[in-house]
Amino acid sequence: MELENVEKVASEEIDACENLDQLNETRVKYLGKKGLIQGFMGRMRDLSNEERPKFGALVNKIKSAVEEKIRIAQEKLEEMKINKKLESEAIDVTLPGYKFNTGVIHPLMQTIEEIEDLFIGMGYEIAEGPEVEEDLYNFELLNLPKDHPARDMQDTFYINPNTLLRTHTSPVQARTMQAKKGEPIKVICPGKVYRRDDDDATHSHQFMQVEGLVLGKDISLADLKGTLHEVAKKVFGDERTIRLRPSFFPFTEPSVEVDVSCFKCNGKGCPICKNSGWIEVLGAGMVNNNVLKMNGYDPEKIQGFAFGIGVERFTMLKYGIEDIRNFYMNDQKFLNQFKGVK
Ligand code: PHE
Repeated sequence: MELENVEKVASEEIDACENLDQLNETRVKYLGKKGLIQGFMGRMRDLSNEERPKFGALVNKIKSAVEEKIRIAQEKLEEMKINKKLESEAIDVTLPGYKFNTGVIHPLMQTIEEIEDLFIGMGYEIAEGPEVEEDLYNFELLNLPKDHPARDMQDTFYINPNTLLRTHTSPVQARTMQAKKGEPIKVICPGKVYRRDDDDATHSHQFMQVEGLVLGKDISLADLKGTLHEVAKKVFGDERTIRLRPSFFPFTEPSVEVDVSCFKCNGKGCPICKNSGWIEVLGAGMVNNNVLKMNGYDPEKIQGFAFGIGVERFTMLKYGIEDIRNFYMNDQKFLNQFKGVK
């Protein structure tokens, strides 16, 4: 190639480059150590002393011109590359969004929240206690000394001779009394409890209760009855009836068992209610004088009632669920039915 043509040819080649790689190849071809322009430099040796400076100046001028053209082309190609990338990553905000699966408040929690709402509305406070409990609170301070036969009513998971998984939420009664030191009490306590039971359609080794405890001047069995009637109406609606049967708990005297009419057969008798037409939902009674005394209360001055609601049973009645194990399987098809039922 003639020296005079180099700039023109190089410039055409540079313009034809479509990307940075091609441009780099062109740069090496013209400006590299073994490139075309360097080749012209090598020819200087053969020139006369007068020709040499002129020729050298011309080669340098062409070299600078080619370098400048490459610099401009490089800037242009880099900008194109960025624009292309931005274009490919652009977000179309008019496209419909992804669908997110929102969770469901567990049906048992929905029942608990419903019961909490009712009782908070009646001026109760929410109390809490540990699930790993001392024998002292779970049994002894509730009038169930060691070797008391009534302990067999609640088969227990023991961790050691003095520590167990609470079999009911009643230990929170004792804990609350000890904390309130003779003052009036109006609390409910929702929580998990544990029993050594064989799991079947209506039994589970872990389930939930809501304990209630009211202590004050002149609190009577009539107050208990009225309170439980409110609970039944709130949770099951007006068509459900309840009945109280005499019962026995060491920590209440007198004690009652509260039944709700069967949701499945409406009282005619079916397998769910074991043909009785009634399903036991909770135990209750007037707090036993011994329990009051052991926990620092004077039965002459203050008395009251306690109850323990079975949350699973309540929820099964409310929605017509026939197997308690549904609550613990985390089956989306089951749980999603409780979306927005509240
Ligand atoms: N703790 C009793 C149970 O789990 C229920 C109960 C609570 C009974 C309070 C009377 C008073 O069976």
